[in-house]
Amino acid sequence: MKGATTNICYNVLDRNVHEKKLGDKVAFYWEGNEPEETTQITYRELLVKVCQFSNVLRKQGIRKGDRVAIYMPMIPELVVAMLSCARLGALHSIVFAGFSAESLCERILDSSCSLLITTDAFYRGEKLVNLKMLADEALEKCREKGFPVRRCIVVKHLGRAELGMGDSPSQSPPVKRSCPDVQISWNQGVDLWWHELVQEAGDECEPEWCDAEDPLFILYTSGSTGKPKGVVHTTGGYMLYVATTFKYVFDFHSEDVFWCTADIGWITGHSYITYGPLANGATSVLFEGIPTYPDVGRLWNIVDKYKVTKFYTAPTAIRLLMKFGDEPVTKHSRASLQVLGTVGEPINPEAWLWYHRVVGSERCSIVDTFWQTETGGHMLTPLPGATPMKPGSATFPFFGVAPAILNESGEELEGEAEGYLVFKQPWPGIMRTVYGNHGRFETTYFKKFPGYYVTGDGCRRDQDGYYWITGRIDDMLNVSGHLLSTAEVESALVEHEAVAEAAVVGHPHPVKGECLYCFVTLCDGHTFSPTLKEELKKQIREKIGPIATPDYIQNAPGLPKTRSGKIMRRVLRKIAQNDHDLGDTSTVADPSVISHLFSHRCLVTQ
Ligand code: WT7
Repeated sequence: MKGATTNICYNVLDRNVHEKKLGDKVAFYWEGNEPEETTQITYRELLVKVCQFSNVLRKQGIRKGDRVAIYMPMIPELVVAMLSCARLGALHSIVFAGFSAESLCERILDSSCSLLITTDAFYRGEKLVNLKMLADEALEKCREKGFPVRRCIVVKHLGRAELGMGDSPSQSPPVKRSCPDVQISWNQGVDLWWHELVQEAGDECEPEWCDAEDPLFILYTSGSTGKPKGVVHTTGGYMLYVATTFKYVFDFHSEDVFWCTADIGWITGHSYITYGPLANGATSVLFEGIPTYPDVGRLWNIVDKYKVTKFYTAPTAIRLLMKFGDEPVTKHSRASLQVLGTVGEPINPEAWLWYHRVVGSERCSIVDTFWQTETGGHMLTPLPGATPMKPGSATFPFFGVAPAILNESGEELEGEAEGYLVFKQPWPGIMRTVYGNHGRFETTYFKKFPGYYVTGDGCRRDQDGYYWITGRIDDMLNVSGHLLSTAEVESALVEHEAVAEAAVVGHPHPVKGECLYCFVTLCDGHTFSPTLKEELKKQIREKIGPIATPDYIQNAPGLPKTRSGKIMRRVLRKIAQNDHDLGDTSTVADPSVISHLFSHRCLVTQ
């Protein structure tokens, strides 16, 4: 209805507490990095915490339409922070805590965030991440670029035990691990402690009423130019879409315990940890740790601990755990499991079958959900128990989704076919714009084939009408289910003084799906050495983050180029794989570089 108003935070919290009488229902079981660090939070408690923090944000001057950056590990305050932004109609821009300071700075600047919410530090398995230090670095860079972020609110997470906040299970997660080696520097006038601010805040807060089309959040995703795109989702359509897909794709029932292992820093976490489950009044697990710590049975230990019924993870995690055999899985009961989901990249049939046979003991439905940051929610997916499964196929479109497969000339192909995957009509959860750059939104998704939304993925439809995603057909790479653009890695490499030119291609990897294989041409006077390789890796980690660390770096005195100077990545991909079947190379300006590169291939990861 035109002119109607809503608020997504109200819908996922107040409505559940007051109308659905779910106040005492657990919203999240929080499981920390250490198995003994746990807490739970009910819908009523979550509502109170969100109201308090919304009041804090309001007092700090945050208003409807403002942008707030969030850089946090998987702790309950992350959910509180995002829902508080939503309550005020402010846009949250969550930056995955595995991204570098430089990446955070770039994202803060792109959407001019006036406030940052972060955390002192956290453990990821054995590894300590001093997040506040990275946040400080990012804010320093922002200042240097003439954009001082007004406030930085810091959650005391590792230092929580010393606050004496860990006693009551439903208060705050007790963190037992003391952490003497973390030094937090404090910027007077900018930094504020979360726990001090909420102490003074009231626990009621009137939501800001929003139009269905008011923006809800920005989430950055890699773009083929190298500059990340700020994907903007809006309130009404996104709310409807994640609530509906969650309900049907996971066959939600009120007694379910749902667990999505993604990080909230990615769209999977936004849609299927926070908004989708809460909109349905579901109970979920919120997990801070990793699948291999303290041992490789951690996921199944958690499944049994909370009697998880619906479980959602990525092929890369499945492949990682497969390596350790069946025993770490089968020694846990897993009897509660009913539906197993997968997302992020094509799942190879071998991993699918292991997931089905070993994890699901052949009783569970597998839902292979194809979607994107841009789509907000599931697009191609089976419905559990209803869609006959084929290992490796995302099967059929969700209700209201109209896929098509196009050939290079943009003609729709019927029946069995392979080509570009597009969508013919919009759906409620479609992104609405690229933040601050509507032109880029139009060119990226709608220009190649006018009238269609272009996914950037290749796809095959078989004789039974099943859809099979064949992978990206642009310059994007999918490393462990995360998209990276070749351009962003290349520009990180050429920023090193020794590198004149770089070309990056995807290379098959048994666990990550794809890894990065880099070819670098050095400037005169520089020599290729193990030290240089280390420096280049460090450079990439600092510019982008650890997820972009390359597995291979090869010295390339020359790169295969067309006569017009375009790097032929198609040829480089073949070289990396030692595949001499290069196809047509008549357009290569200097064919001698190809044989040189073949004979100097990297044989082992570095
Ligand atoms: C790209 C989107 C959406 C959540 C996580 C990734 C690939 C995603 C599948 C799947 C085959 C998949 C596609 C897509 N992808 N799910 N089930 N089967 N490929 O979000 O970072 O926006 O990446 O991930 O290539 O375009 P994203």
